[in-house]
Amino acid sequence: MNTYDIAVIPGDGIGKEVVPAALRCLEAVADIHGGLKWNWTFFPWNCEYYLQHGEMMPEDGIATLKQFDQIFLGAVGMPELVPDHISLWGLLVRIRRECEQSINVRPAKLLRGLESPLRNPEPFDFVVVRENSEGEYSQAGGAIHSDEDELVVQNAIFTRRQTAKAMKYAFELAAERRHSVVSATKSNGIVHSMPFWDRVFGEVGAAYPDAAARSVHIDALCAYLVMRPQQFDVIVASNLFGDILTDLGGAIMGSIGIAPAANLNVERKYPSMFEPVHGSAPDIAGKGLANPIGQIWTAKQMLDFIGLPELGELVLGAIEDSLAAGVKTRDLGGSATTEEAVSDILARLYRRGK
Ligand SMILES: NC(=O)c1ccc[n+]([C@@H]2O[C@H](COP(=O)([O-])OP(=O)(O)OC[C@H]3O[C@@H](n4cnc5c(N)ncnc54)[C@H](O)[C@@H]3O)[C@@H](O)[C@H]2O)c1
Repeated sequence: MNTYDIAVIPGDGIGKEVVPAALRCLEAVADIHGGLKWNWTFFPWNCEYYLQHGEMMPEDGIATLKQFDQIFLGAVGMPELVPDHISLWGLLVRIRRECEQSINVRPAKLLRGLESPLRNPEPFDFVVVRENSEGEYSQAGGAIHSDEDELVVQNAIFTRRQTAKAMKYAFELAAERRHSVVSATKSNGIVHSMPFWDRVFGEVGAAYPDAAARSVHIDALCAYLVMRPQQFDVIVASNLFGDILTDLGGAIMGSIGIAPAANLNVERKYPSMFEPVHGSAPDIAGKGLANPIGQIWTAKQMLDFIGLPELGELVLGAIEDSLAAGVKTRDLGGSATTEEAVSDILARLYRRGK
């Protein structure tokens, strides 16, 4: 029996609804497999915890998390009560940084049974590899003066080590897929970091002669993802560009509620963290309307990462079977509740797993 110790942080809002749904699917997968066991440990770290304790997680929170095999997270954020920079930087970004989860992997695929908001799209299937530890999301900067003299500086930080690591991961991934890597750049406007980004892309790409590699400016890339997403295989992007591209990826798939993400510690020194692209969706929280697919697809990414890709495929297959049968939550134009959606996916998982 292979046992996995997983730290579970449901977080805020719909995180508390979609995380239990995905855990039920992971339990079903363990049932089907027969030689796999999950040990869940739940952590109540979220904005309510912050309002009670003045911090998003206890002092030894990161040290505690580092003892687990993986981390499974919903979403954090209660913007009406806690400013987003506190909730995100106090928990999510801290975990990503201190567990050295420097690669963020976000697939976007036209799922069977789903209609994209694009008109007559060809089937698309691409993965955004986002540098996850630095870039535009840096703490380097500060503010001085006030009123009309107020001055704010926000620095973007790019290191060769992390830039090259994200690019190498993208090329390795493309070698298992369709051998194409596009780099998101903006070297015509950002004159220091982006020419550096392009140069490292050329250097890393030289070691992968079988891959078709090209750079595309981020603005044009956004337009291409709307006009012909089927042309893309692996896209490598900086922290901010990757963040924006993957909301776009979610949108063209049909809903941000289905988009998955994995924050990987590729060295496997510390746990990786699996969380969907979407946030805590306060507008629909507590109403049973949340689409659980983003969180369940994220569970598939966890299965892939721990070396059980056949079980990951089982999960994605069950999701597609359910969508193809018309079981859709409101964000996808249907009327299924979270419970109805997850019950249907579970039934189809067992059917496939027989
Ligand atoms: N990983 C994270 O923890 C994370 C990521 C993004 C945003 N946030 C936080 O979440 C809060 C809300 O942010 P936001 O409104 O910008 O983004 P959001 O992703 O929470 O919601 C955007 C829109 O998409 C809808 N939506 C999102 N997920 C859905 C799902 N699973 N099913 C159906 N509809 C869904 C919401 O109802 C909303 O209309 C903020 O506090 C923000 O900082 C957290």
